[in-house]
Amino acid sequence: MDDYLALNRASWDERAPAHAASPSYDVERFVTDPSFLSKVVRFDQPRLGAVAGLRGVHLQCHIGTDTISLARLGARMTGLDLSPASLTEARRLADRARAAVDFVESDVYSALNVLEPASFDLVYTGVGALCWLPDVARWASIVAGLLRPAGRLFVREGHPMLWAVDETHTDRLIIDYPYFERDEPSVFDDGGTYVETDATFSNNVTHEWNHGLGQIITALLDEGMELSGLAEHDSVPWEAIPGQMTRDDRGEWRLADRPWRLAASYTLQARRR
Ligand SMILES: C[S@@+](CC[C@H](N)C(=O)[O-])C[C@H]1O[C@@H](n2cnc3c(N)ncnc32)[C@H](O)[C@@H]1O
Repeated sequence: MDDYLALNRASWDERAPAHAASPSYDVERFVTDPSFLSKVVRFDQPRLGAVAGLRGVHLQCHIGTDTISLARLGARMTGLDLSPASLTEARRLADRARAAVDFVESDVYSALNVLEPASFDLVYTGVGALCWLPDVARWASIVAGLLRPAGRLFVREGHPMLWAVDETHTDRLIIDYPYFERDEPSVFDDGGTYVETDATFSNNVTHEWNHGLGQIITALLDEGMELSGLAEHDSVPWEAIPGQMTRDDRGEWRLADRPWRLAASYTLQARRR
């Protein structure tokens, strides 16, 4: 079962340097402009509200652009990720951008072994995070275990409806992958990535899982969390279905034709009692 971790880690390790070098992640802007925030966090800001002074952890932080953005908004941030190469890029960027952020290497499911339980005011995650985890109930128990009482979870994530779409079709929406969580992973062998890059890759096999919206919410409720917000959006911050989406001036991608057909992402907020 742990093979999925080795496969997924190898894929992310190889892609991290290409992502850091890609204009899509705007890494140089963080260095040249001390007030610059990632487009993901800019999108989140109206729902996220004030985070200054909060102790926050960003699960699956990748190269740290959103983690550093939250630190720039005044949160005391820790980023956690499985991929050492992603964390190398994250630490380098934090250093160059003069952001005080801790980065920790761990599988999400082992987070309570490397971070202090019940010590965080904010758990932040998403944008291509939950799909790497086989069991959403286990994820919810980690989230609840990290939060102090009254601490909050903020997730903006690709909608399970989007993950069910076969993105290789360029002329229509074809539902070809699971919507609901299943024991078996969806196995992909994809030599590309989701950012603009000329890099080529050789570690291309990944194992991924979808989780239905009801399953995600139920998993959190079962951990004693209280749902405090749920918004579905017609857009995502990457070109999720190439050839069928257009980008707006905020960097959000939505279906060019009748975008109201697809819930592309969601923002979920919950609070530990
Ligand atoms: C698409 S990135 C999402 C991060 C962020 N939204 C971004 O775009 O920068 C997915 C990240 O999840 C990490 N990841 C995958 N499986 C993981 C696991 N089991 N535990 C911790 N991190 C994991 C990968 O290493 C990768 O950095």
